[in-house]
Amino acid sequence: MKAFIFDLDGVITDSAEYHYLAWKALGEDLGIPFDREFNETLKGVSRTESLERILSLGGREQDFSLEEKEQLATKKNEHYVSLISKITSEDILPGIEVFLQELKRAGYKIGMASASKNAYMVTKQLGLLDAFDHIVDAATVAESKPHPEVFLKAAMALGVEPKECVGVEDAVAGVEAIHAAGMFAVGIGDPAVLTEADLVFTDTTGLTLDNVLARI
Ligand code: BG6
Ligand code: MG
Repeated sequence: MKAFIFDLDGVITDSAEYHYLAWKALGEDLGIPFDREFNETLKGVSRTESLERILSLGGREQDFSLEEKEQLATKKNEHYVSLISKITSEDILPGIEVFLQELKRAGYKIGMASASKNAYMVTKQLGLLDAFDHIVDAATVAESKPHPEVFLKAAMALGVEPKECVGVEDAVAGVEAIHAAGMFAVGIGDPAVLTEADLVFTDTTGLTLDNVLARI
């Protein structure tokens, strides 16, 4: 292994919770309430596809024009951006900074593969821009997870082969994307949800080089 490629939301910081709260509020405005279980199907999925999934949950996929859907997605994003406007390095998930330092010391390349158009802003607010050798975000890819494009682009930018990469993800769609890219998949979250991952830690404190390498 030569590189580790991380998802952002729900792996580096708990922004997955803010995506959930913002989508949930929009869903309630539209008369489409949903729970955390349905939210699992939105994790790692692009903004427009997430909206489509919520509308189809409520049987309302035909009720809005393209322009109205864009307005709904913008409304969610404005709410999300206001929720995350106050995040700082204090919001980096436990163990992540130490793990990133451990990887750097050991000579691994470190990349980010995020489905979010807010990835740079969030990483900057966390004070972690320098921790990553390369960041690929949603603005620079055509296909969204579970398509492997974002992970493949990150590997290419880091100058490594996909099979030399470990991907780290909290989303089912993200684990699928890592595997489709031909990488080793580490899941962060509930093992009963992330059943396809090669290795699952219930939270980020389990992430150490020894713990991961022992399983490869
Ligand atoms: C992913 C999140 O990282 O980014 C999804 O897991 C989110 O929940 C997606 O919908 C898109 O994010 P954004 O910030 O571009 O709306
Ligand atoms: Mg995620």
